Amino acid sequence: MGKELTCGELNREHVGQRVTLKGWVNSRRDHGGVIFLDVRDRWGRTQTVFNPENEPAFATAEAVRGEWVVSITGTVRLRPPGTVNPRLSTGEIEVAAESIEVLNPAAPLPFEVTDEDTLPDESVRLRYRYLDLRRARMLRNLTIRHNTVKFIRDYLSDRGFLEVETPILMKSTPEGARDYLVPSRVHPGEFYALPQSPQQLKQILMVAGVERYFQIARCFRDEDLRADRQPEFTQLDLEMSFVNQEDILQLTEGLFAELTEAVTPHKKILQKPFPRLTYQESMDRYGNDKPDLRFGLEIRDVTSLVAESGFKVFADTAASGGTVRGISVPGAASYTRRQVDELTSLAQSFGARGLVWVAIQDSSQGSAGYRSPVAKFFSGEELRALAQALGGGDGDLLLLVADRRETALDVLGRLRGHLGQALGLADPNVMAYAFVVEPPLFEWNEEEGRWDATHHPFTAPLPGQEGLLRTDPAAVKAEAYDIVCNGYELGSGSIRIHRREVQAEVFRLMNYDDEQIEARFGHLLRAFEYGAPPHGGIAPGIDRWVMLLADEPNIREVIAFPKNQAGVDLMLKAPAPVDERQLRELHLQLREPGRTPA
Ligand code: AMO
Ligand code: AMP
Repeated sequence: MGKELTCGELNREHVGQRVTLKGWVNSRRDHGGVIFLDVRDRWGRTQTVFNPENEPAFATAEAVRGEWVVSITGTVRLRPPGTVNPRLSTGEIEVAAESIEVLNPAAPLPFEVTDEDTLPDESVRLRYRYLDLRRARMLRNLTIRHNTVKFIRDYLSDRGFLEVETPILMKSTPEGARDYLVPSRVHPGEFYALPQSPQQLKQILMVAGVERYFQIARCFRDEDLRADRQPEFTQLDLEMSFVNQEDILQLTEGLFAELTEAVTPHKKILQKPFPRLTYQESMDRYGNDKPDLRFGLEIRDVTSLVAESGFKVFADTAASGGTVRGISVPGAASYTRRQVDELTSLAQSFGARGLVWVAIQDSSQGSAGYRSPVAKFFSGEELRALAQALGGGDGDLLLLVADRRETALDVLGRLRGHLGQALGLADPNVMAYAFVVEPPLFEWNEEEGRWDATHHPFTAPLPGQEGLLRTDPAAVKAEAYDIVCNGYELGSGSIRIHRREVQAEVFRLMNYDDEQIEARFGHLLRAFEYGAPPHGGIAPGIDRWVMLLADEPNIREVIAFPKNQAGVDLMLKAPAPVDERQLRELHLQLREPGRTPA
């Protein structure tokens, strides 16, 4: 297997042994005639020492530079007292070098391969990703990802799941994004679509009798990129037959809890069993459907308390059917004018018309104990009631937004997220897993004049609510669930529709006519006619999950070769123009002249 020895394994037990180390020169230090070369590989690094008497090795050691690939032979010895490095697994020993062979030199580096704060701009890291991936942190991330996927495979295999691969050259699957299309050479004018997810095929595998399926599935979505989104990403896609929602949640909870304990034993799972919130509850208390439960700062509704107040903004909002909601920020009554102005600007950037703040200095002083630009509109008693409703006490800062329900909740939800981070309440070592259940099945699409599926069109209504499809689509709740953690949606799933009539009804609400239904989903509806078992599943995003396990701020850090925020692979320089001959073969013509291929 190539190397017999890694650079991370020598210790005092090996003293006296003659060894050969192969790896990259991590650093070269010249100490008054003696040269120290640290050799590094995936497993660690080892100090080697060259003496001037030892020619020609010494001259070679003098010539090598960072990241050259070398092979060094010598004898393991204890480091002199006082030079032991307790932070290194090999820190007690060094190798007294006899010979060195340069296996390959390296060009001057665009940046140092270290984990110090001297990293260059991300674009440089991505352009030279092979150097970036040599860093211990990146290798650690790849390892966490490997361990995560291995744990998943073992866990599900032990429970009777079958891993099945589904095609990448596929047909459009609606998951709410644009498709990536691949033109066909042999069928002029026709296209494959890359899967946004294997959703329909996993359902068809249930019709096929697989019963328990999973796949570490690559998905492709042409959508706006963010820190937690890539155009291609990986899901743990799974599906089961003859199950209800409870079965899927139990399986998911077991996997998430056990994997976290195995892969990141230093992390603490905040609550087990994972809390479950309805979608409505999550929106009302946290302002979004992926709450960060590591801290409180819950949103409360105070509309009825301020509806009659002398503060016109509140009274008018309440009178016109809007709401007034707020949060209490612990210990923030001492915020300076500048700090609260910044919060106001932030709230406005989130879409609020303004932000009312009330600092509770000393509630025993009546209205004099509160500092606020709107204090004059409220009696001491009203302010006390407001503070109480928001759960605020002396020293706390109340923040209030008056608006339409959706806007008020959205703004406060984002402020809450911002403050949780700013106040240091979001401990990265805590994993606050939770399920959010019972979202609405549809949302009204004003522009297109139709109902859109909030999850996807294959999701079943809650049992007993099929009748509402005809009378009140807005009121139908879905038998769907998300697993969330620390403010991120990690995965989504649902119990599926397995009866052809119900599926057709849902497609009709989404304004598909019979012809479109046949063209896009005929295969699925036909499969449903041949004995489709009741089934359901879920698909956690591996990238987001590993990002949290590895304490990284974005998913690019846990993907070996990600695209940048503009969807570009800076190392491969993709996407790239193709030549005229290829276009012709694919029966394509550009509407505007493109760039010529390099
Ligand atoms: P959904 O579309 O909610 O559900 O996706 C499930 C999970 O996939 C991850 N994810 C992404 N990760 C990185 N970049 C992206 N662009 C991206 N988009 C989604 C998220 C998300 O929670 N077929 C259904 C699942 C099912 O019903 O079983 C589906 O794909 O972590
Ligand atoms: P104005 O009456 O516009 O001068 O606003 C008085 C105070 O109320 C300011 O502190 C504004 O930031 C705040 N404010 C204005 N509109 C809203 C609103 N919709 N919700 C919360 N506060 C608001």
